This record gives sequence, C-alpha cells and structure tokens, in this order.
Amino acid sequence: MNRPLLFAFPGNETMAASLAGSLGAEVGDMVVRRFPDGESYIRFLSPVKGREIALVCTLDRPDDKLIALYLAARIARAQGVRRVGLVAPYLAYMRQDKVFQDGEGITSHHVAALIGSVVDWLVTVDPHLHRIHDLSEIYPVPTRVVHAAPAISRWIGQNVQRPVVIGPDAESEQWAAEVALGAGCPYTVLQKVRHGDHEVELSVPDMDRWQGHTPVLVDDIASTARTLIAAVAHLKHAALAAPVCAVVHPIFAGDAFAALQSAGVARIVGCNTIHHECVGIDITEALAKAIASMPNAG
Ligand code: R5P
Repeated sequence: MNRPLLFAFPGNETMAASLAGSLGAEVGDMVVRRFPDGESYIRFLSPVKGREIALVCTLDRPDDKLIALYLAARIARAQGVRRVGLVAPYLAYMRQDKVFQDGEGITSHHVAALIGSVVDWLVTVDPHLHRIHDLSEIYPVPTRVVHAAPAISRWIGQNVQRPVVIGPDAESEQWAAEVALGAGCPYTVLQKVRHGDHEVELSVPDMDRWQGHTPVLVDDIASTARTLIAAVAHLKHAALAAPVCAVVHPIFAGDAFAALQSAGVARIVGCNTIHHECVGIDITEALAKAIASMPNAG
C-alpha cells in the first residue's frame, strides 16, 4: 500500500488531513507563499529526502498554482525525494482538447506535459475527458481516475424523492448515466450548443413524462454555470419541479454561484474536489483508495 508523506498546498489542508486519516499517512509541513513581487516561495519544513511524497493541490484557478506546484516538485526532487505524486482532485485545462479556431493550441496537452515532467504519478477525480479518452493519451506518468458517480448516486438516494437525472449536454451523458444507474433512477440528456464563454443554447427532448419527478441536473463542471442556468430555464419552461444541481467540480467563477441560485433551483450540491460553500458530497475515501493503489517505487 502506498502511504506517501502528504503536503497540502494552501486551501488543501482539510483534504490532505482527511486523506492522511484514511491512508494512515503523515502530513508534512511546507511553506507556499508569494514574494512581494508575485514570485512563488516554496520551502519543505519536513525532510523529504528518500521519502515517497504526494503534493495535494486541487487545480481550480490553475494559473495561480501551476508555477508553485512545478517548483515544489522540482525542489523536492533536488532534495532527493524518492517519488513525487500529485493529488489534484480537480484537474484543470482538460476542456481545450482540440484546436477550435485557427491560432489556438491544445492546451490540455501542454499542461499535461508540464505537470508530467515533474511528478511521478497523478490521482484525480473525473477529469473532463471528451475528445481525449484516457489521461494516458496526454500524461506521460501513471494516473488513476476516481469516479464521483457512486458518491453522487448515494447522495441522491438519501436526499431526493423520485429523482430523474438530467445531463445538460451530450458530454455529461457519461456522468448522468452512471449516476442514474447507481441511484436506480431514470436519466435523460439535453443537447447543447455553446456560442461563447457565457452563451449557451440548449434543446430539450420531450419532458412531459418527467412530471412528478424531481429533476437532478448532473454535470462534471460548473464554471460560469451558464450550462446549468440554461438547463434550469428549460426545465422551468417544461413546468417540471425546481431541480437539484449536483456537480463534481464546483468551480463557480465570478458571480456564477449566485446566478445559478437565483435561476430557481431547489438546491446546489458539489463534491469536495474544490473548496466551495455548496460542497456536500465527500469523495475522500475513493481518492485515498486510488492513492493507495499507486505502485510504490521499486
Ligand atoms: C462541458 O461540456 C462541461 O461538461 C460543462 O457542461 C461545462 O464545462 C460547464 O461550463 P459552464 O459552467 O461555464 O457552462
């Protein structure tokens, strides 16, 4: 069983402590801060020489974190660490997985190359796999993917009467289908066309047959929340009950959370892959199992 010494990046202390509890592992001390000029300062206060370590750093707002993460992994290596793993419950830069317009780049690949150049393994929760089907296509190191669906299904079973799971777009079908199967309830999927960062258009299949059910909108990511807001509007139009929104990664950029709340939802719940006030679904145990399954260094 892999029991690395865990180091929490700022904001990841609770997750690191819970993981350490589940794994029977230690949490080390480190300093991650900014110099006045904005550069990152990293210092390991617990010795890492000869140790298996894991950096716990969820990657929402990734541009604020990636350099510090890169430096921490390099510094640990320079201090003679045995292996450095990364536990990133939310893995960023997975949505730009093709060139949509001339002049763009496939940033999923570039960020994977950056992270993969300094860590020995990666554990994450439901990365946004769409045109990329497996993390091994872009990450050059062993990876484990934890699925949040069982935890979301359990939550639905305990909290929602007569649920029907609704995926807001074709990409969400993979999560909606698995969640519905686990919750023992039906599901359906809407069709989405995204016209811009904040412009989303949905078309809706026949909704009449879901009268009397509680719609549970399930998506992997809520960023601007425009996808969920558009879905809520359609359900309202179809005179369904106010939906519950369950998201794996509650990013909620800017005013997105308030906007979704005021769209007419019964409840918003997220998994604890990202620190947010809506978090109500705990995926720590599944993450700990995935970490424990990473092979130890020989
Ligand atoms: C995209 O296909 C994802 O599954 C989500 O639907 C999307 O990332 C949500 O983004 P936003 O909250 O900005 O609409």
